Amino acid sequence: MTNTQLIARDTAHLIHPLHDTEAQRSARVWVKGEGTILIDADGNDYIDGLAGLWNVLVGHGRRELAETAYNQCETLAYASGYTGSSNERAIELAEHLAGLTYPSINRFFFTCGGGEATESSIKMSRSYWKLHGKPEKTKVISRRESYHGVTMAAMSATGLTAYWPLFEPRVPGFLHIPSPYPYRYNNSPGTSQGIAAANELEKAILREGPETVAMFLAEPVQGAGGVIVPQHDYFPRIREICNQYEVLLVADEVITAFGRTGKLFALDHWGIEPDIVQFAKAITSGYVPFGGIGVNDDIAATLDDEGLVWMHAYTYSAHPVGCAVAMRNLRIIEEEDLPNQCADKGTLLLAALQDALSDHPHVGDIRGKGLMCAVELVADRTTRQSFPPGEKVGPRVFEEAARRGLFSRVKVDTYLLAPPAVITDDQLGRTVEILTKSIQAVLG
Ligand SMILES: Cc1ncc(COP(=O)(O)O)c(C=O)c1O
Repeated sequence: MTNTQLIARDTAHLIHPLHDTEAQRSARVWVKGEGTILIDADGNDYIDGLAGLWNVLVGHGRRELAETAYNQCETLAYASGYTGSSNERAIELAEHLAGLTYPSINRFFFTCGGGEATESSIKMSRSYWKLHGKPEKTKVISRRESYHGVTMAAMSATGLTAYWPLFEPRVPGFLHIPSPYPYRYNNSPGTSQGIAAANELEKAILREGPETVAMFLAEPVQGAGGVIVPQHDYFPRIREICNQYEVLLVADEVITAFGRTGKLFALDHWGIEPDIVQFAKAITSGYVPFGGIGVNDDIAATLDDEGLVWMHAYTYSAHPVGCAVAMRNLRIIEEEDLPNQCADKGTLLLAALQDALSDHPHVGDIRGKGLMCAVELVADRTTRQSFPPGEKVGPRVFEEAARRGLFSRVKVDTYLLAPPAVITDDQLGRTVEILTKSIQAVLG
């Protein structure tokens, strides 16, 4: 069947994430993936510029992962993970993660993805404070431009406001501070931008009352918000503030965990540890849905109180197939040294983007950390004024690039790039060439 025939059937019966009837008319129906390449139903090849949705770190078509999933399905496809049961794959994975994650994080709760990880860390934080006799510590502070998923509490933490209006009211007790966004955050002259942006957290905690704030939730590099890389002094100051006011620091590493930024876990770039870490996506490279949270030893000890039942659960928590695929995938990440590959290839990609695009009159900012980059297009480079939304500059660049064989995503007028870590140098070069031609086609 052709792409057009399949889309006619698709639109009759499917509701898509971010459902948009008009955009779906030009959708590609994917039929195969090989390494960094996606193939549509008409047989066209595309560079997978966002590794699926930031997740396919090891690339498409890995036989080892398919075999692992097959073998585990045959041996034990499913068993309850609720208290009273366990399975060997989950035990192995949790043990292994304890050696990989931040030193203070040694206990894990597994989910099916990132949104459930956000819900779980919010409920973990609130329960932690209740068990410590501080039941009024319930508020969640996060940042504008953040993305933490779309279940009701995760959506309420998400700071990209476009996700709210159709579904409000949001869950009460969620607040947002400005993103450190180096290209756009306005600090007073002479002050450190990173410290000023971090101090927004202190101001919010003091405004609300420290006795009411449970946690601060932050992606080390904001992904869906436009690959926003914080200043070097931002997170160390955030850690200090969280310590001072007894607020749990929760790192949403759903995109950044397992190597994408050039280190296995991204807060290692700034030498700090969170109290809770959320992960998903690259833990299985997207081969099966999986995610989870890791908590520090203090939180784990609180949960271990005799007589406590922590009333939070998912049918598919610690799913044996997910755990088995995650273990095999983590071995690939280690054997092929994918964090270092992301660091090296990211440096190449950023330099090539800068070479090709930094003189373009509508390229405002080119940024990245590891193999996670973005090009922000603006109407005016001097004032950093964005294009009017009606001009749809970002979506037009996206479509031009897709026609030329590069498929990724845009956040408004910011083009996002996070290909699989196995991308070749040729494919990196082609990515930059296609994006450059596409920007020129739209903006001259
Ligand atoms: C940082 C972050 N947190 C949470 C999520 C939500 O994950 P999921 O779509 O698996 O629910 C995402 C998804 O892109 C994400 O980027």
